[in-house]
Amino acid sequence: MTAVSDVSSDPIVYLNGELVPLSEARVPVLDRGFIFGDGIYEVAPLYAHPAHAGGRTPFRFQQHLARLARSVDRIGIVNPFDDAGWRALIAQVVAANEADGGLRADQDAIAYIQVTRGVAKRGHAFPAGIQPTVFVMVTPLNLPDAAQRAQGVRCVTAEDRRWLNCDIKSVSLLGNVLMAQYAAENDAFETIQFRDGMLTEGSSSNVWVAKSGVLSAPPRSHKILEGIRYGLIEELAGECGIRFEAREISEAELRAADEIIVSSATKEVLPVTRLDSQPVGEGKPGAVFAALYAAYQRAKAQEAREAQQGVENESRERITV
Ligand code: PDD
Repeated sequence: MTAVSDVSSDPIVYLNGELVPLSEARVPVLDRGFIFGDGIYEVAPLYAHPAHAGGRTPFRFQQHLARLARSVDRIGIVNPFDDAGWRALIAQVVAANEADGGLRADQDAIAYIQVTRGVAKRGHAFPAGIQPTVFVMVTPLNLPDAAQRAQGVRCVTAEDRRWLNCDIKSVSLLGNVLMAQYAAENDAFETIQFRDGMLTEGSSSNVWVAKSGVLSAPPRSHKILEGIRYGLIEELAGECGIRFEAREISEAELRAADEIIVSSATKEVLPVTRLDSQPVGEGKPGAVFAALYAAYQRAKAQEAREAQQGVENESRERITV
């Protein structure tokens, strides 16, 4: 049996109706996810709030579920669950891992959800009458460390050679995998890509540029995945009084930026202080990053308070009924 080398513990995962240890979870080789990369996925943070009895807050979860619904819809898979069903399922996997000791109540976690078209005799077009494969895994979230936030990270650049449906959160990630590997081989945190001389995104992150106090990002289109942080950062910029422009950004503009920031579920917001062999701006994290990072932490705290309020209201209603 092949060991899952980077998973130190053996989390309890959900696969097609069952909770099983990851080491025992199996899909048939004719699963179209394996054969064709015919599936989609979602990655959502679940923050721990030890002070709250309610425990864990899925952050921006409604938006993650909406994107999941859009992804399955885009590739013609019927969503296996409605929002309440997905929420209940994630809660069940979290509870199983907490009970099992794999996830401490005070640990932030990440929910990985994958839906493939299912298992069928190999043939490219959609087979009729098959059940989607559903996989859910909840593992500890390791956010960038304080040093990475304080110093920023180095990114490298490359031409974006991926397909033109980057807005679908597809598991067909070979283009992204090659870009992540390019970063790894060059001791960089991430590869930032250009298509036809214009900024698109990182291998697994969105990219933001600040110049003279104005924040910009490439517009939502088929050329990038609209991160759940995309709309969030737009909102946070507004809160902070930072002007935001969604517009095409040339390679030259990226290289002349005062600040570059990458964002994703697992990175939150992170400053890029070196691009290839050059410093970005003054070579240290800037004021726009600092404002957005603080606002992001406030947004987390706010959602935790709202979740806690919900739990309290629920129990009060239970008592009064
Ligand atoms: N990736 N663009 C790409 C290509 C991504 O893979 C991701 C996230 C993002 C940012 O999306 P969000 O803000 O919703 O995390 C943008 C996840 C984290 C992953 O593949 O693990």
